[in-house]
Amino acid sequence: MSTFTIDTATSRATPSPVPGKRMTAPALRARKVDGKTEEPIVALTAYTMRMAQLLDVHCDLLLVGDSLGQVIYGLSSTIPVTLDMMIAHGAAVVRGSWHALVAVDMPFGSYEGSLEQAFANCSRVMKETGCAAVKLEGGEAMAETIDFLTHRGIPVIGHVGLTPQAVNVLGGYGARGKSADEAKKIIGDAKAVSDAGAFCVVVEGVMEAIADQVTEAVGVPIIGIGASPRCDGQVLVTEDMLGLFERTPRFVKRYADLANEIGEAVGRYAEEVRGRAFPTEEQTYRPKS
Ligand code: KIV
Repeated sequence: MSTFTIDTATSRATPSPVPGKRMTAPALRARKVDGKTEEPIVALTAYTMRMAQLLDVHCDLLLVGDSLGQVIYGLSSTIPVTLDMMIAHGAAVVRGSWHALVAVDMPFGSYEGSLEQAFANCSRVMKETGCAAVKLEGGEAMAETIDFLTHRGIPVIGHVGLTPQAVNVLGGYGARGKSADEAKKIIGDAKAVSDAGAFCVVVEGVMEAIADQVTEAVGVPIIGIGASPRCDGQVLVTEDMLGLFERTPRFVKRYADLANEIGEAVGRYAEEVRGRAFPTEEQTYRPKS
C-alpha cells in the first residue's frame, strides 16, 4: 500500500493519513437510485492544500470553485478568474485530499467558445491538477459541450439556476425561478445537462419549489446551494460557513465564527509583540546546558 507523504521539513503541512479509495464520478452518480438519494451528498469548496486536508474526511466532493476569485483574490466577480489560477489551486486541493472527489470549476471564457476549446482546456485542467471532474456553468446551451467532453473521458458537473459567470446577463445575484418562464427554463436546463451526460448538477440560488421539481425530474444527483433541503446534496463556500466574512448571505448557515477568533488571536499577538511578552524563552533557541 502506498502512503501519502508530505515533506514536513519544507512545509507546514500535517502529513495526511494513508489514502483510502477516492470517491469517483460514477460512485457519486450512483448515490441517486430511482430518483432517491438515501444519504445526501456533502460538498464544500476548497482552494488550498491545508483547507482540503481539514475538509476531506467529512466530504464526498471538494469543489475548487471559481468563487476563489472573490474569496482568495478579492475580485468583484468570478469573471476575471483565469485557467492558471484554477490549475494552481486545483493541484493544491488534490495534494491535500485523499478521500473526496475533487472537481475544478472551468473559469469564464475557457469553455464556451467551441467544443475544441472546451476539450483542450478541460483536459489541461485534469492533467495538471489530477482532479477527477470539472464543473461548468450553463444549461441547454452547454449540453452539446457536456456531451462532447463526457464522450472523451472528462466527467462533468453541470451548474444551473443562478450562474455567477453570467452576472452581466442576469443583472445581479438574486434568486432565480421567480416567474413561471424562468422556472420552466431552469428545469429544462437541468434536464438538458443531465441528458447530455453530466454526472451531477449544482442548482444555485433558486426558489425552493423549483429546486424540488428539479430534484424530482432529474435522474442524476442535484446538489443545492441556496436551493432546497430536499436536494440530493448540499454545497457551500467554506469561508462563508466558517464565518470568515462579515456578510452572511441568506442561504448560508454559519457553523463557526472564525473572523472574530482570528481578530482576537492576532490582537493578543500584536499586544504581546509590542509589550515584548513574545517570544519567551520557550520560543527561543539557546545552547543546551
Ligand atoms: O464557485 C463556486 O464556489 C461554486 C459553488 C458555490 C457551487 O460554483
